[in-house]
Amino acid sequence: MKEETLLAAARASSVRAYAPYSGFPVGAALLTEEGAVITGSNTESASYGMTVCAERIAIYTAVHAGHRKFKKIAVAADSSPPPTPCGACRQVLWELAGNIEVIAGNFNGEITISKLSALLPEPFGSSAWDKNLVSKEAVENSAERWRVSVSFHPVGYVVSGYKAPQTIPANYRELLSQVIIEPELEQGLYRLEEEEKINVISYLHMARGYSLKEKRSGRGNEVYGVFACRAPLRPNSIAQSTVELVDVNKNILTVRGLDLIDGTPVLDIKTVMPR
Ligand code: THU
Repeated sequence: MKEETLLAAARASSVRAYAPYSGFPVGAALLTEEGAVITGSNTESASYGMTVCAERIAIYTAVHAGHRKFKKIAVAADSSPPPTPCGACRQVLWELAGNIEVIAGNFNGEITISKLSALLPEPFGSSAWDKNLVSKEAVENSAERWRVSVSFHPVGYVVSGYKAPQTIPANYRELLSQVIIEPELEQGLYRLEEEEKINVISYLHMARGYSLKEKRSGRGNEVYGVFACRAPLRPNSIAQSTVELVDVNKNILTVRGLDLIDGTPVLDIKTVMPR
């Protein structure tokens, strides 16, 4: 993955910052060895010292999601020179990610790239008591292993004339929209044009909360469970839309019948199971 792409994810995640005290939103994006991108943004506290930087939010989130090997981290903020990780983050990154590449960027195109070892010479490490760390085996044998949180990196996004969920028209089956796939993933679309219909798996980023059982307007106002219908307010806010594939032009898909608003992150594209 290119530096610029990782930096774009860091910039994008700075909008999730909670920074009312400093007014300085920061975003971080960590690239794992498997190619996943895990993001973070700074989260402040009225008790100032409890603030956690974007980099630590990203790496703690990644470790919690099961990632243990990392390649790079990008950090972005509106400052010149671009923001490099604070001392505490350098220490934490060193322990959990090792000598990764650190890309610092701002919103004007300035970038600095360094190895963590250059930012944190002569680091303090845990080698002295390594033998006492909980074994990997003990973690892997836990019966509750499936209760992990999972993070996804969108493969693209929706372009549509409709900007808010309530505005999607009832006759959306006729609606033309586009799905823009990340240019670096374009080869994954090879021979997709042979399909008449495709499934677009997406993340309903505007959805907040869920209800397990409710009257469903699309089903004669009768009560159904959330897993027995397509209601948008679901525990994981994941949507699946089967649409007509009208055109594939490089990394741009034109589709008919997509019930998603402009900017919806797309997690995956899959073919429809043949009958
Ligand atoms: N901050 C980060 O998130 N990352 C850095 O690399 C430097 C500082 C945050 C912490 C705090 O919310 C704000 O920026 C001002 O220090």
